[in-house]
Amino acid sequence: MAKEFKRYLVTSALPYANGPVHIGHLAGVYIPSDIYTRYLRLKGCDVLSICGSDEHGVPITIKARREGVTPQAIVDRYHNLIKRSFERLGIAFDIYSRTSSPVHAETASAFFRKLYDEGKFIERTSLQYYDEEAQTFLADRYIVGTCPRCGNERAYGDQCEKCGSTLSPDELIDPHSAVSGSKPVKRETKHWYLPLNDYEEFLRSWILEGHKEWKSNVYGQCKSWLDGGLQPRAVSRDLDWGIPVPVEGAEGKVLYVWFDAPIGYISATKELTNDWEKYWKSDDTKLVHFIGKDNIVFHCIVFPSMLRAHGGFILPENVPSNEFLNLEGDKISTSRNWAVWLHEYLDDFPGKEDVLRYVLCANAPETKDNDFTWKDFQARNNSELVAILGNFVNRALVLTQKYYGGEVPACGPLTEYDRATIAELQGIKSSLEANIEHYHFREALKDAMNFARIGNKYLADTEPWKKVKTDPERVRTILHIALQITANTAVAIEPFMPFSSAKILRMLQLGKFGWERLGSMELVPAGHVIGTPELLFEKIEDDVIRRQLDKLAATKAANLAAEKKQTIVNQKDTITFDDFQRMDIRVATILSAEKVAKTKKLLKLTVDTGIDRREIVSGIAEHFAPDELVGRQVLVLVNLEPRELKGTLSRGMILMAEDASGKLRLLTPDERTDNGAVVG
Ligand code: 2FM
Ligand code: ZN
Repeated sequence: MAKEFKRYLVTSALPYANGPVHIGHLAGVYIPSDIYTRYLRLKGCDVLSICGSDEHGVPITIKARREGVTPQAIVDRYHNLIKRSFERLGIAFDIYSRTSSPVHAETASAFFRKLYDEGKFIERTSLQYYDEEAQTFLADRYIVGTCPRCGNERAYGDQCEKCGSTLSPDELIDPHSAVSGSKPVKRETKHWYLPLNDYEEFLRSWILEGHKEWKSNVYGQCKSWLDGGLQPRAVSRDLDWGIPVPVEGAEGKVLYVWFDAPIGYISATKELTNDWEKYWKSDDTKLVHFIGKDNIVFHCIVFPSMLRAHGGFILPENVPSNEFLNLEGDKISTSRNWAVWLHEYLDDFPGKEDVLRYVLCANAPETKDNDFTWKDFQARNNSELVAILGNFVNRALVLTQKYYGGEVPACGPLTEYDRATIAELQGIKSSLEANIEHYHFREALKDAMNFARIGNKYLADTEPWKKVKTDPERVRTILHIALQITANTAVAIEPFMPFSSAKILRMLQLGKFGWERLGSMELVPAGHVIGTPELLFEKIEDDVIRRQLDKLAATKAANLAAEKKQTIVNQKDTITFDDFQRMDIRVATILSAEKVAKTKKLLKLTVDTGIDRREIVSGIAEHFAPDELVGRQVLVLVNLEPRELKGTLSRGMILMAEDASGKLRLLTPDERTDNGAVVG
């Protein structure tokens, strides 16, 4: 028997306040958690949805340093932007707090202090990387180097973003400081460690025995951490941004961001309600953490061990975590600006909040990484939201206006087909509920959309627009049922598309229904007068999608240019003007070109240099086909010492430009000119 819970506490991973929120965050965490909590609220459950900004940690101080502002300025900027964007998208947290709040500092300090006083930490002095130039220890992302697993040269001291490995600074090859770029030295420093190894047995039985129902990606990651054996983990850092370690002799040390951030869920609940202990400390509360897959270890291993060490808190019942969403085939990346930013979407697509919510849920990376493409976004809008949901609702409302001036007709005798349709609708309800309760939101969305699909089919099969002339009584029943399906659709889609749900109800001139009314055929009473129908969704045209694709293309080009800049060859040693004058460069025309037998790279070219006709052997066969060279004017260094190559005396060199990728390009005068013209 599944356990009965009296209340729900739903948390969503606290986003770092070092950048805006993008579609990957939404699809992975915030849309699923919002669907879940909206559903529970509609059911009338006691539920709190908790989130806030994660405002500590090295990514924030790095950004502040780069911009020459304080970390507080960074977190203020992004906290406000993120909070507002969530509100605009209809993500209805009960509180969106922040970890720089005083309540949080108190709560996290007290949590640490209790564990410290009870001897739950190990104190250890170890050698850690130190930047002598910047006079700072190099925690986490302050140190960069080559990843020992995949060779990525820009791996961080805590993680390689390329292969996803968790790293420690000592594992990095050729480590250097991200602050000054200098080679760090090692210095002694004292820190506090939570001995995770002491919690291994508890975690094994709690997760591996007790939570076999967790999603396989979550369960699998936990199992592999546990099978690999847990080690003590440092819960403090040498940094000047964070919550000070609340013990004597800890000057310059703060709580590790992953120690304080999950406590943020508790402090935000405290800020929200004096009744917070009821949610965090009663066994009949169901605690659910919605997170991204890179957060699994912290929520399933580290935070539960902290809660266990502290005592008195409940543990999560489930930790639904999605895989990653890619964008147009590439990994979403904040640093490379490869993302669709929520605040920009909201500005570019006003009134289309539900379209994004719909697409990100329909395409959510629930079991594997998935791809967001603008074409798919357009297709789902046009052929699902407009053609199915919008079309059905519009037909039902417009026909009611047209035939009855907006007054809901009474229901006459039902046909077999009516009964079958109603039974089918009522059958979806349990599937929809089970899918939401098991965190299968993609399937749940299909169920919700099926209300509209069935409604569309019902109208298409019963054809009220034809029957109105021959059997007007029957049409009254058909539209009565179609309006009931419309109202049911509004209830079913509310967790997924709250704006559209509200709009349907507004057009029906009805208030909000509770979930228990879903499936009822008495939502819209006969005689009730509905409002004016409006379109629920509108078609998205190609030019709108093109603009978004152009924006991404510009980002790609900028990234490529930036990468090239980094690989540009250093300037050679200075030469004198005389040195330069000694080179005789002329315009010449290629008269013929052929491959040199038994070589891959060489072409034999005959060129007219204006001075003479001569042969030049050039290693460009892999870049140009002989045919595309004949007739081209090029620049030739004509006084290069002749050299015999594969039996041909090569007299000169064709000048080319080689870019960072090794691609060669011919240099041609901007207009045809005389062979022999001097270059200089
Ligand atoms: O990965 C992240 O974006 C983290 N800021 C999530 C923190 S979740 C919680 F522990 F606060
Ligand atoms: Zn790597």
